[in-house]
Amino acid sequence: GSNSDILANECAKGAKEAGHDVELLSLKGKDIKYCIGCLSCQRNGMCVLKDDVADIMAKVKDAEVIVYTTPVYYYEMCGQMKTLLDRLNPLYSTDYSFRDIYMIATAAENDESAFEKAYNGLQGWVDCFEKAS
Ligand SMILES: Cc1cc2nc3c(=O)[nH]c(=O)nc-3n(C[C@H](O)[C@H](O)[C@H](O)COP(=O)(O)O)c2cc1C
Repeated sequence: GSNSDILANECAKGAKEAGHDVELLSLKGKDIKYCIGCLSCQRNGMCVLKDDVADIMAKVKDAEVIVYTTPVYYYEMCGQMKTLLDRLNPLYSTDYSFRDIYMIATAAENDESAFEKAYNGLQGWVDCFEKAS
């Protein structure tokens, strides 16, 4: 029932109505450990950490479009989302399907500048996946 939930649900509804296959994933209650920076994923394409990320990563890999939704926390994306982005590092060397990345963000402030750093944070992730924009 959060603002992010409402916006994500509306986006999913619109995409479904437009004929797309849509799956909504919430990070709420998910076990998402911090990346430990071992970079073993760059050698074997898998993460050594065992938690809920493997399932999420499989869905992200096969999606053509990804819409990340986050509340703005201290002018950045929320920590759960950043932790997930870090953990998606194994996808870097795979034949991932995603091409279009969107972000929906919600903040207390009306000024558009409240979203800039969160947007730039996600842009940094997108820049590393060259087939995506
Ligand atoms: C820890 C924390 C930090 C926040 N930082 C900001 C901020 O820097 N700028 C802002 O405009 N709103 C900030 N907010 C307000 C939330 O972004 C805003 O209420 C948002 O709509 C909450 O989304 P949600 O309902 O999906 O949780 C912050 C809220 C929390 C809890």
